[in-house]
Amino acid sequence: MKTEYVDLRDGKDVKEGLYKATEIIKTGGLVAFPTETVYGLGANGLDENAVPKIYEAKGRPSDNPLILHISDFDEIKSLVKEIPDVAFVLADEFWPGPLTMVFKKSDIVPYRTTGGLESVAVRMPSNRIARELIKAAGVPVAAPSANSSGRPSPTKASHVLEDLDGKIDMVIDGGTVDIGLESTIVDVTGEVPVILRPGFITEEMLSEAIGRVKTDEAVKNLSPDKDLKPKAPGMKYRHYAPQGKMTIYKGNPEKVVKIINEETAKSEGKKTAVLATDETKRYYKADIVISVGSREDCESIAHNLFDALRSFDDMGAEIIFSEGFDESRLGFAIMNRLHKSAGYNIVNV
Ligand code: TXA
Ligand code: MG
Repeated sequence: MKTEYVDLRDGKDVKEGLYKATEIIKTGGLVAFPTETVYGLGANGLDENAVPKIYEAKGRPSDNPLILHISDFDEIKSLVKEIPDVAFVLADEFWPGPLTMVFKKSDIVPYRTTGGLESVAVRMPSNRIARELIKAAGVPVAAPSANSSGRPSPTKASHVLEDLDGKIDMVIDGGTVDIGLESTIVDVTGEVPVILRPGFITEEMLSEAIGRVKTDEAVKNLSPDKDLKPKAPGMKYRHYAPQGKMTIYKGNPEKVVKIINEETAKSEGKKTAVLATDETKRYYKADIVISVGSREDCESIAHNLFDALRSFDDMGAEIIFSEGFDESRLGFAIMNRLHKSAGYNIVNV
């Protein structure tokens, strides 16, 4: 299959530019498109024949459910059995935006979309291209992140093509995404809403809006307890892992620099890389040093993280050392992704 590339980066003629993309979705094909979090790989989420193509293109395990994307609140009504009060409040506060809510599914949502679950995840993205596409398609758009299963989520159209060129019908280039980490997922089916995946919308922001919120015990500790199974099926898989062996060094930044340089010296003959920050990057001696921004600026770290992990692969890094970051608020979502990338290889300095 030839993957068609459509450039909508100038933001002009978006509606016209989406004509073909809409036809592809309506006829059961796959279109990758930008959202404010990461690029998604979209198909008609109610089409039992289209949805399996997503799993095939990504190499995704079939028990890992998809998020349905909508462009207007009313569209949710046919997809879920009930809308709890908290969901109205959260939608009011955070939609359109980087929040996904899990509801009891209605009968029209196929089990192929929900990985066999009785629940369904729904999100209303804020990205203009995403919204226009969903609206014009006239169906809920099922869209996981548009990467091959296991790789870092794509934050640029070029990342999508790296993984899926020739496997999908079209990719729409809307430039680099804003946030760079996937949406926060909150299960609203129980008495107390539960965060299943941390993201840009933090626990603090959620509880400010609705009071009591919990975080799934299995993701609360950054290093997982093997006896606890995450409630979002996708959170149990190895993810975001670069090809090189990666270790995170946590602690005082000066000591971290010193130890990473000692380890770099010991790794002679191998291509070494450091995931660094603006404050520290000039001190490292590794072959490749990438800064994800200032240590003080979580949003910049979130924005650059996946691109940096992909760059390590592009440059053939064999051993990767990463600094650790603040673990509060947005930092918690960043460290959740980073811990997975490193396969939970962590050294406390
Ligand atoms: O920001 C995002 O959420 C992006 C963009 C494209 O919207 N999408 C995304 O989708 O990250 P994906 O498929 O890569 O991750 C969805 C996560 C998976 O961990 C999946 O297991 C979980 O959501 N999930 C989906 N439906 C669920 C459900 N009914 N119950 C629990 N977890 C669910
Ligand atoms: Mg994903």
